Amino acid sequence: VKRVAVLTSGGDAPGMNAAIRAVVRTATFESLEVVGVRRGFSGLHRGELNLLGPRDVANTIQRGGTILLTARSSTWRTPEGRASGAKYLREWGVDGLIVIGGDGSFHGAHYLQQEHGIPVIGVPGTIDNDLYGTDHTIGYFTAVETALDAVDKLRDTGASHERVFVIEVMGRHAGHIALDVAVAGGAEEVFIPEDDKPVTDAVEIVKESLAKGKRGSIIIVAEGYPGGAQGVADAIQAGTGMETRVSILGHIQRGGSPVSSDRILASRLGEAAVYALMDGRSDVMVGRDSGGICYTPLHETWERRKDVSRDLYRCAKTLSV
Ligand code: F6P
Repeated sequence: VKRVAVLTSGGDAPGMNAAIRAVVRTATFESLEVVGVRRGFSGLHRGELNLLGPRDVANTIQRGGTILLTARSSTWRTPEGRASGAKYLREWGVDGLIVIGGDGSFHGAHYLQQEHGIPVIGVPGTIDNDLYGTDHTIGYFTAVETALDAVDKLRDTGASHERVFVIEVMGRHAGHIALDVAVAGGAEEVFIPEDDKPVTDAVEIVKESLAKGKRGSIIIVAEGYPGGAQGVADAIQAGTGMETRVSILGHIQRGGSPVSSDRILASRLGEAAVYALMDGRSDVMVGRDSGGICYTPLHETWERRKDVSRDLYRCAKTLSV
């Protein structure tokens, strides 16, 4: 392996820059060259490639977003789009591609490898933490902190007005962010897609809270829960008459300077991705579990579901007494 390429794809996540930096610096340490691809797979099939040196990634470890830019590419879903990208990688003499992103990006990488034989390594970069094969994904810790900060602020105003606040957090089809934020934010209840708790449970919970002398409540809803926060709020308003407000935190959760856990995870996984290519691995995601660095076939990262922590789910319930 003499030259590796790196791109970021799909939704950006805090810590992606730290991962790019780790790839570039590890490659330099091992006397390899790095090609940076701009705008993810969209840029790859259009040939937006440039050499990246260790000084190009200076002063980036603390920055949110991605210096390489990112996109969700529909063209990459076509065989022609992937063939065009493969042609550019060959022209640039690239021996392997490192893809920092989530499951959509890993699909794209997997098909590139299958159809064109180009070695690919996935690095889990998404706030959703929804990839099987790693305890955490890059960006997740920061997103939880950002959402938690908003919940704390909403609690101040909610408590002052004795209102119910129903707060929707991101996570796509997964409830990891919601569950962490609910426990850390001291919420009365959390609704996640991994559990089919009916929306009417929210009415009972608020009624019970009132009976226990609680005047306001914080309820966290994952965006993937059917009906979202609005559905939960409508049920509460109709069932209890309590003044209820909805706050959808949205893309604010994707921004900001990465917290230390994301920077460290990104640094380790970026390094591991380069060594994985040097060791002849391909079509796998590098992840981290209690045993250290682990490798999971890309298709398993989206085919197998990473469940939320059932212990934590129980804990959230216990503590809302
Ligand atoms: O995958 C990250 C994520 O932020 C999800 O939590 C969310 O559902 C989605 O991306 C939003 O995507 P977009 O930025 O395209 O609106």
